[in-house]
Amino acid sequence: MIRTVETTPYTDQKPGTSGLRKKVPVFQQKNYAENFIQSVFDALEGFAGKTLVIGGDGRYFNREVIQKAIAMAAANGFGKVIVGQGGILSTPAASNVIRKYKAFGGLVLSASHNPGGPHEDFGIKYNIGNGGPAPEKITDAIFARTKAIKSYKIAETGEVDIDTVKTFDVAGMTVDVIDPVKDYAELMESLFDFGAIRALFAGGFRMRFDAMHAVTGPYAKEILENRLGAANGTARNFRPLEDFGGHHPDPNLVHAKHLYDEMMGPNAPDFGAASDGDGDRNLIIAKGIFIPPSDSLAMLAANAHLAPGYKAGLKGIARSMPTSGAADRVAEKLGVGMYETPTGWKFFGNLLDAGMATICGEESAGTGSDHVREKDGLWAVLLWLNILAVRKESARQIAEKHWATFGRNYYSRHDYEEVDSDAANRLVSELREKLDTLKGTKVRGLTVEKADDFAYHDPVDGSISEHQGIRVLFEGGSRFVVRLSGTGTSGATLRLYVERYEKDRLDLDTQEALADLIGAADDIAGIRSHTGRNKPSVIT
Ligand code: G1P
Ligand code: ZN
Repeated sequence: MIRTVETTPYTDQKPGTSGLRKKVPVFQQKNYAENFIQSVFDALEGFAGKTLVIGGDGRYFNREVIQKAIAMAAANGFGKVIVGQGGILSTPAASNVIRKYKAFGGLVLSASHNPGGPHEDFGIKYNIGNGGPAPEKITDAIFARTKAIKSYKIAETGEVDIDTVKTFDVAGMTVDVIDPVKDYAELMESLFDFGAIRALFAGGFRMRFDAMHAVTGPYAKEILENRLGAANGTARNFRPLEDFGGHHPDPNLVHAKHLYDEMMGPNAPDFGAASDGDGDRNLIIAKGIFIPPSDSLAMLAANAHLAPGYKAGLKGIARSMPTSGAADRVAEKLGVGMYETPTGWKFFGNLLDAGMATICGEESAGTGSDHVREKDGLWAVLLWLNILAVRKESARQIAEKHWATFGRNYYSRHDYEEVDSDAANRLVSELREKLDTLKGTKVRGLTVEKADDFAYHDPVDGSISEHQGIRVLFEGGSRFVVRLSGTGTSGATLRLYVERYEKDRLDLDTQEALADLIGAADDIAGIRSHTGRNKPSVIT
């Protein structure tokens, strides 16, 4: 039985760079999730009889929304739903399943690295048939629909069993409950030299992987311990919990400090890594050395040919604008294209689909390749392991040799979280207004070479995305970038990104090396005065 339920619109359902993200109580309002899901379906065309993939990172409210989504997919005419057992699919695994089974698209339920629980965050994102996040054209159409929606369709299915791997029929639609790990593990095995990595572990190599009680736990257990022979216990906090154990599943130096401390400690394993709530981010800390994400991207790109999946070399490298220029130097040496995109993974999709880029990355701990259309935390970890296994050097040696060859881009991001939104917007608009007057001015010994508001011209579809972050570039190659986060759920988050390139001075302390630049950014943008803060909430 299919019901048409009358509803009234909510006005706050604008999907951002990572879909619709709100606090759980907002999502729990009457028809809130249903309105959004119906709006997604209404914004799409031609899916009758086709397949929809559904899965999430297991956070609080995941199971409820999966039930609704299955019943609504049946009522709206999808032919089949593929859902991860227990409602689980990491974001990169969902992307893979969409691609592998040629699905029409997928609903990915997650709020990524944001905390989970009854009062924390939830999210719904729609991914298209290439496995990647929906482009702006579709998210705009979804948003328009949410403002006009009058009814939604839902099948009366009763509770559907998503906990047993099996195929069955629900209201005339096929439901295929799949093992969430298997397809992903097979994909990884096709890209990397599992034999070489197995030999590395068999030789006594020790590793720590912190799943932060989020979705990558089952993936890491299966791939690292079962398939690659890493010691039992290599994967820590591997049981996905609805509230991530009360922690913030964001793999950075603040929220994964225990991993950092262990890796800097006397009995540190050889290699350490962590991933976020939905498994698309990665943090790499080797014994005694933190590898900043922008550097990790550059090092992976420089060595990717050592893994079977990339032995033909890279077609190009893409990075988000605020990500450091370390990868640019690798692209230059390899003689391949380098693309600078706005923040957010969706901008990489066209470049990957067009075969212009093979590896992409963001400073926010996201790295990935053309194997899926999302960033992929475990993929980055496995590529590192493959490189370590082939080069037979430590991660520290690899990093130091890399810097000796290419120079070093000292880099840091300062986040001011939960800032008053009006104050944050004022800061950005005042800075924007004075961009033209900055050129040639000297601040703390640094001369401004260029200042602009980044606009991206997509080389594939010609679309233009404006206001993607304000850049101030100084003579000598230093720069800072200011932009407002598109993923925070309370107040505004102001991000300041600072970068300084050094050809030969390779062992400076990062924050010290950047101190003048940070001061100059404050002088120019008035960060302290606008935010009323005298220091950032998080430094990475
Ligand atoms: C943040 C990161 C960005 C990433 C996004 C989704 O977005 O900065 O690189 O793509 O999360 O994981 P922001 O909050 O800065 O808009
Ligand atoms: Zn994520």
